[in-house]
Amino acid sequence: MTTGTLDKAAFGDDFTWGVASAAFQVEGAPDADGKAPSIWDDLARRGKIPGVGADQGIRYYDRYKEDHELIASLGFGANRISLSWPRLMGNGRGPWNPKGAAFYDRVIDNMLEVGLEPWVTVYHWDMPLELWKRGGWCRRDIISEFADLAERCAEHFGDRVKRWMVFNEPTSIVGHLLVGMTHGRRGFHYDAMLRTTHHINLAGAEAGRRMRAVLPSDAQVGTTQVLSVVHPYEPTDERTVRRKRAIEAVLCDIHIDPAGGRGYPFDAAKALLPMRRHIRDGDLEAAEFRYDFMGLQCYGPLVGLKPMPVIGPIPTNNITTAEFRMQSAIGIPQDPDAMLWALRKYAHHPAADRLVITEGGFGGNDRLEADGSGVRDDVRVWTHRRNLQAVLTARSEGVPVDGYFAWSYADNVEWFFGRGPRFGLVYVDYEDDYRRIPKDSALWFREMLAGS
Ligand code: NOJ
Repeated sequence: MTTGTLDKAAFGDDFTWGVASAAFQVEGAPDADGKAPSIWDDLARRGKIPGVGADQGIRYYDRYKEDHELIASLGFGANRISLSWPRLMGNGRGPWNPKGAAFYDRVIDNMLEVGLEPWVTVYHWDMPLELWKRGGWCRRDIISEFADLAERCAEHFGDRVKRWMVFNEPTSIVGHLLVGMTHGRRGFHYDAMLRTTHHINLAGAEAGRRMRAVLPSDAQVGTTQVLSVVHPYEPTDERTVRRKRAIEAVLCDIHIDPAGGRGYPFDAAKALLPMRRHIRDGDLEAAEFRYDFMGLQCYGPLVGLKPMPVIGPIPTNNITTAEFRMQSAIGIPQDPDAMLWALRKYAHHPAADRLVITEGGFGGNDRLEADGSGVRDDVRVWTHRRNLQAVLTARSEGVPVDGYFAWSYADNVEWFFGRGPRFGLVYVDYEDDYRRIPKDSALWFREMLAGS
């Protein structure tokens, strides 16, 4: 495995280099300044998230200045964060919490002071617990409730934040339902998954329109998608072609095609037909919204997984290279070519003009060197370098992709997996006051971004 450097100049001056994180995963301070509990705070309190109790995140709430300085010192120009709905709107429907908003004012102002462009996601999974108890994304009223939040955020922060993402990975939001992992709902909830999908599509478009109406003209409204393309990327036999198309339709296309005016891919996956009972007159038109950019997030190909409900068996053939057999700490096979295929697949989709890699990275079982000096994380360096090569290849083919965000700037709470898998460029020493220690991958980025 080689971890050689890359030529930053090859990406051009307008390319955005950033790091990404999300509110629940880093902030901590779950009760500070009038914040209400989210579904994830509740899970943490009930001991459902390994290693994470009342003290959540990595104390970004208090240490954001130190973190921003560190991110800027590595040479990044942008920082992607998310806003916590229960911090801003208590139990979900308001009133607006000025103290919660003041926290994000401080964060955004400080980013601008140290030279980081804020990229902001409105919803990165931390739904107010109260809203969830009332039915979460299954209730149709959530569409307007979410759009109210998004519009209010755009009004409040839009003078400083020019890059917005409405959702983070709708596939994951509904995927938790599909595999029965969602908050307090064990088992398989296919109808809930279909309803949720439709409501999220409608909410994304409605929020996008309302945000655009109040944002300055130089602001951009995007969204993000996780794109786990099925391997083999180019199957030749008819049966695998059909299976690949059906799996990608259920996992990805249902979240993207409606925005682009294509409706739902019923022809590719008959399993989606029950969705029709949730679609009302005018819905398909209301779900259309041309985003300014589509954030793509890809952590590896879909291959060799256990058969899933609805989706069924995933093709497992052609697993040949050593890299491909390498797995992240959460079991994702490593093959950055998946990112190239995802970029190609969504290159000229009617839902968005441009693509940005809003997340890429590797979760490992990193160990701090015995003398506490750093972390040797060659696999992470290899992953980012190969991802970036995929971006260069895609650009040379005319794919309009103009940014890359490393997930994540520092180790944090990996949802149901807790503090186990570490995705950071920076190690967080939970035993020593959450000290931040740059790993080799952070130093690799610093050298590359210095562009010597
Ligand atoms: C996608 C999610 O957006 C992020 O929250 C998560 O930590 C990473 N993938 C890694 O699994």
